[in-house]
Amino acid sequence: MKKSIVGALLAATALTSTAYAEDSVEVLHWWTSGGEAAAVSVLKDSLEAKGVTWNDMPVAGGGGESAMTTVRARVTAGNPPTSVQMLGYDIVEWAEQGSLGNLNEVAEAEGWGDVIPEALQAFAKVDDVWVSAPVNVHSTNWVWVSKKIMDELGVTEAPASFDDFIALAEKVKEAGYVPFGYGGQPWQDITTFDSVALATGGLDWYKKVFIDLDPASINSDTMIAALNNMGKIRALVDENFSGRDWNLATAMVINDEAAFQIMGDWAKGEFVNAGKTPGEDFLCWRVPGTEGHVTFNADQFAMFNVGEDRVAAQNAMASSVLSPEFQVAFNIVKGSAPARVDVSDAEFDACGKKAIADLKAASEAGTLVGSQGLSHTNRAAVKNAFSDAVTAYFNGELTAEEAAEEMADTVAIANQ
Ligand code: BGC
Repeated sequence: MKKSIVGALLAATALTSTAYAEDSVEVLHWWTSGGEAAAVSVLKDSLEAKGVTWNDMPVAGGGGESAMTTVRARVTAGNPPTSVQMLGYDIVEWAEQGSLGNLNEVAEAEGWGDVIPEALQAFAKVDDVWVSAPVNVHSTNWVWVSKKIMDELGVTEAPASFDDFIALAEKVKEAGYVPFGYGGQPWQDITTFDSVALATGGLDWYKKVFIDLDPASINSDTMIAALNNMGKIRALVDENFSGRDWNLATAMVINDEAAFQIMGDWAKGEFVNAGKTPGEDFLCWRVPGTEGHVTFNADQFAMFNVGEDRVAAQNAMASSVLSPEFQVAFNIVKGSAPARVDVSDAEFDACGKKAIADLKAASEAGTLVGSQGLSHTNRAAVKNAFSDAVTAYFNGELTAEEAAEEMADTVAIANQ
């Protein structure tokens, strides 16, 4: 190679790569709310105790789409972060592109295969290579409830069905409160749709639609009914819902302005961060109509192919994340269940204990299913096809019938 070309390449590398010490990790994530930041601190502290320096790369946006765009730019520039928070099929897609590293040595030495549930291994291991370290198990079919408003209405238990839930939400409105604290962003719409679809169509239909992508189940009366149920929620949100961040919608329930938020259990991290206690200040119900089921999403730290000099720190991070002590400390703050099945629930609060127990029961009963809204049933292109139609319906741009038809068409194209 001619000297001038080498020089140009070196100059380009200097422009694109970040120089980090061997004992440091650069971590890209979207944990930017108060509760999430508290959870990040737990991780940062546990690594720094091992002598690994944390370089923070936060990219806000709950479904991780903005984070994935940033990662793509970094990988294209030849300068991937050490580790990236990632969900489900996004991990698989990055692995298939050959961008992820190999954690087999750590995983084997620490017996990950025996303690990490199969449902998580399905994404953490691609072609027998561990490419990411599972952090937790969240689930999306929760509703976070203002205890004060329920007390005022004399409500002592969760409604038995989705229809009863809507009837209760209407009573909340009559009492002068906002029924649903809601953030109108596409990722929140499609994540809410996990619960609404499951409550409307049941587990078999959910799987036929979001996993099998069966056209007749997608463009069906059941899908129209599910969308109409989204419409019932739409009628019970406040006028400022559009574009609102999820944690601001959680704050509406924390402050007893709104009765309910349908949201994954990262919302509990906000209650905990605000000093609130389950059972006293707020309640956690499974979304009525989905009780007995868990729609899960697991955060994982996908490890990118980095230079040899950064592999030791990467392995140290993977090992930290899966340590039983970290799994307890982090997940208590984050609102999630541990990614290991052998961790005690003793230190978790009532909602955390319920999350862990529900997960085990659903896994044994075959009622544990991936969150379609958060990339655990299908690839990004397919998810986006569903998501676009749900958001267009929610914002009144399509009727339920049109949205169901559009979904069937766009999902078929995305799946080619
Ligand atoms: C992640 C959670 C995160 C939430 C909101 C979800 O996609 O799995 O860890 O707290 O987004 O940012």
